[in-house]
Amino acid sequence: MTTTTTATPFSMFFLLLCLPSLALLPPAVSGLNIDARRSPSISNSNSYSWPRRRTSNVARSEPALGYYVPADAGGAMLTKAPGTSPPAGEPLNVIIAGTSDAAVLVDSQDKGGFRNFFLSVGFAGECLGQHEGAPQTADLGDGNGYKNETAVLRWDYGDPSLGTCQETIQGGNHFRYWVQSGTSGAATGGASGAYFLATSYEKPIALGHDIIVDGYNQGRDWLIGNITKSAIPTATLTNTSTFTGTTSFGGYTYSSSISYVSGLLANSSVGVNHADTVGVNGANPVDGLVAVVEVKITGRPAGESANSASRFAGTRGQGALIPTLLLFLLGALCL
Ligand SMILES: *[C@@H]1O[C@H](CO)[C@@H](O)[C@H](O)[C@H]1NC(C)=O
Ligand SMILES: *[C@@H]1O[C@H](CO)[C@@H](O)[C@H](O)[C@H]1NC(C)=O
Ligand SMILES: *[C@@H]1O[C@H](CO)[C@@H](O)[C@H](O)[C@H]1NC(C)=O
Ligand SMILES: *[C@@H]1O[C@H](CO)[C@@H](O)[C@H](O)[C@H]1NC(C)=O
Repeated sequence: MTTTTTATPFSMFFLLLCLPSLALLPPAVSGLNIDARRSPSISNSNSYSWPRRRTSNVARSEPALGYYVPADAGGAMLTKAPGTSPPAGEPLNVIIAGTSDAAVLVDSQDKGGFRNFFLSVGFAGECLGQHEGAPQTADLGDGNGYKNETAVLRWDYGDPSLGTCQETIQGGNHFRYWVQSGTSGAATGGASGAYFLATSYEKPIALGHDIIVDGYNQGRDWLIGNITKSAIPTATLTNTSTFTGTTSFGGYTYSSSISYVSGLLANSSVGVNHADTVGVNGANPVDGLVAVVEVKITGRPAGESANSASRFAGTRGQGALIPTLLLFLLGALCL
């Protein structure tokens, strides 16, 4: 996709809508600290740090599949959504496998990390760093028990800077994610490093951000379609379906191999949040398939090698200037 980050008139409209809540932002954000705004909106104060994992004494013993099956060690492939009664959650329907390149498994936009990969797919951090709602929790069977979601990434409507504001208002594809970072759950020990994504396509904010009909399966497949750049046939997928795709952003090119697997999630409505409105006409809201994505970096910016420690200065830095200036202007108007 294009790396142009110029603010569109459409984005400006949504930015204006976002303004009232800007006043409620913490100083680092309302003070227009762009680095803070772009950093992960991590809701877990205990957040892990991947570089630490690399230098720790705990070896990462990569499972052949690139992830451990959560249910094998007391975990679950459904999240827990807050305020649901009886308890219900969303399917963890996409996995970024731990067999992906190590750089992709770092929750960062730098050096081709997870967030840069998702910018290449068309997903970005939340609108102006805001975060709505109480976090969902998930237990990936890694010994860490139920943990808050790490963050939420949203479809950016082609605009990495402000498009997720449009997603927040208008609805669209988005996912929460957790990392299988614990080391005590799996029999073999060692963190898999895999990312588990709860993907769904939500309705506009005016409709309470409910999920559209078939919005878990479709959200998964639109995300995968954004990697392969061709439509994924949701209705005819099986546990033998495989795809490949190439995406790029910020000078990094990613080659992804996708396999749909069964046996992790149930083809069912049991325990699924919004089950009655997502699965209609007798269909289950969750088809039981998980898209497992292995991501390899196949191209890097000139001067960056796989082991280079040099800091990546991307095109996005310049692009962010425009919305920053607009924010200053709008802020001045509000005084
Ligand atoms: C999870 O999020 C809730 C609500 O934001 C917060 O109160 C709690 O401290 C968080 N838990 C952890 C372990 O960070
Ligand atoms: C990419 O994502 C958008 C938004 O979710 C979706 O409308 C579109 O169909 C996806 N593209 C493909 C090829 O699946
Ligand atoms: C694939 O699904 C079929 C049923 O549709 C099942 O019998 C088979 O065991 C599954 N294979 C794997 C590898 O999960
Ligand atoms: C899920 O189960 C339904 C029957 O309840 C079946 O028609 C459908 O093919 C199953 N989907 C998959 C992906 O196995």
